[in-house]
Amino acid sequence: MKSAAFLALVALLPAFTVAQSAVWGQCGGIGWTGATTCASGSVCTEQNAYYSQCLPGTAAPTSASSVPSSSHPTSTVSSSSSAPSTSSTPTAGNPWTGYQIYLSPYYAAEIQAGAAAITDPTLSAKALSVAQIPTFTWLDSVSKVPDLGTYLADASSIGTSTGQKQLVQIVIYDLPDRDCAAKASNGEFTIADNGQANYENYIDQVVAQIKQYPDVRVVAVIEPDSLANLVTNLSVQKCANAQTTYLACVNYALTQLSALGVYTYMDAGHAGWLGWPANLGPAAQLFSQVWTNAGKSPFIKGLATNVANYNALSAASPDPITQGDPNYDELLYIQALAPQLQAQGWSATFIVDQGRSGQQNLRQAWGDWCNIKGAGYGTRPTTSTGSPLIDSIVWVKPGGECDGTSNSSSPRYDSTCSLSDATQPAPEAGTWFQAYFETLVSQANPPL
Ligand SMILES: *[C@@H]1O[C@H](CO)[C@@H](O)[C@H](O)[C@H]1NC(C)=O
Ligand SMILES: *[C@@H]1O[C@H](CO)[C@@H](O)[C@H](O)[C@H]1NC(C)=O
Repeated sequence: MKSAAFLALVALLPAFTVAQSAVWGQCGGIGWTGATTCASGSVCTEQNAYYSQCLPGTAAPTSASSVPSSSHPTSTVSSSSSAPSTSSTPTAGNPWTGYQIYLSPYYAAEIQAGAAAITDPTLSAKALSVAQIPTFTWLDSVSKVPDLGTYLADASSIGTSTGQKQLVQIVIYDLPDRDCAAKASNGEFTIADNGQANYENYIDQVVAQIKQYPDVRVVAVIEPDSLANLVTNLSVQKCANAQTTYLACVNYALTQLSALGVYTYMDAGHAGWLGWPANLGPAAQLFSQVWTNAGKSPFIKGLATNVANYNALSAASPDPITQGDPNYDELLYIQALAPQLQAQGWSATFIVDQGRSGQQNLRQAWGDWCNIKGAGYGTRPTTSTGSPLIDSIVWVKPGGECDGTSNSSSPRYDSTCSLSDATQPAPEAGTWFQAYFETLVSQANPPL
């Protein structure tokens, strides 16, 4: 009894007696003064000289100093054979392997309502099947963060009841002065009005939710369009003004999330944006600098491409609008960008949005992005990607949600949404667009 009581006291006072880091917490590294042992069920694993981390594992808790620096003893971490030998940075494995993707109940409800509104029974049944296809949840305002908590709790209990580990897919999307080169997706925060602090608070709230469910794996796409805008659109005053704030905020998101074991992919535009030969070098420079500044965590996995866009992963033939760009599809873009990242020491891997890429050769110009007419749902999410550089084909954009309004009186009106290849009339960005959904269903390729 006495020793049990003592152990209970020890458990209550970990900071004073047996200092321990939580799973995914830091447990060593140059300059680290915190706990060097890990919570039970995890093992302190050296990631680099500056960072050791408690990774889930069966080995007994151990101190950082007893882990040989030459080995990475858990199955989730392995040295990448393609990294230059001078700087072999450990990389985490494919996050989807061994996990089932949690289906967003919000998107499923949108699909169910959308399918119910279709009178043709065959088309309605096809539409309903989309509810089973995983998409990402866009945390595009602070008010949506509690939904993440709900989904994580739900995923955790599904994992417990089925024995099948669950993975939740999110998009971090709330930068101050968001969407600096366009208007349709302007956000809730401004740099002038405490934007960076508000953003850090947003990330803190996301972190607080994820921390509660260490059994659920989380994959996050980081801030669509933001870094790509810093590569090509600094001539836009709003982007030039936002540059340092974007970099500070993205750094905060990456460091906080990767320290928790969230697998992060920074948004990297698409083939028709950063895939142009003149943009590849500056893009590789910026992304690897951001990765370096964020501590080179193995959980900063790489880059997400084609988010909410319409490009093919591998086009049968180049769309005429791509003329002049040898990287006329996402695979060519990735194959061109990856070696330039590797040259900076980063063995980044990729995910590619194909949610609305089922039909090709639809656009008047490659830069058109708003509710493109005739688009169909594309290749289903899969880790059978055909390329070792690509971890998964994903659906980041929940197809059926609008890209931007065609109402020219709206404060978020972007003229791109009134071009001849844009479906009109279109409601506000993010809201349900039934007519567009029906086209995505009927034009799906492969068919639903
Ligand atoms: C942003 O950059 C892209 C790619 O260079 C360009 O096509 C687009 O027009 C720019 N946007 C603005 C608002 O200047
Ligand atoms: C267009 O936007 C304006 C301003 O927000 C609004 O008053 C008007 O009702 C909208 N028109 C339509 C057709 O939605």
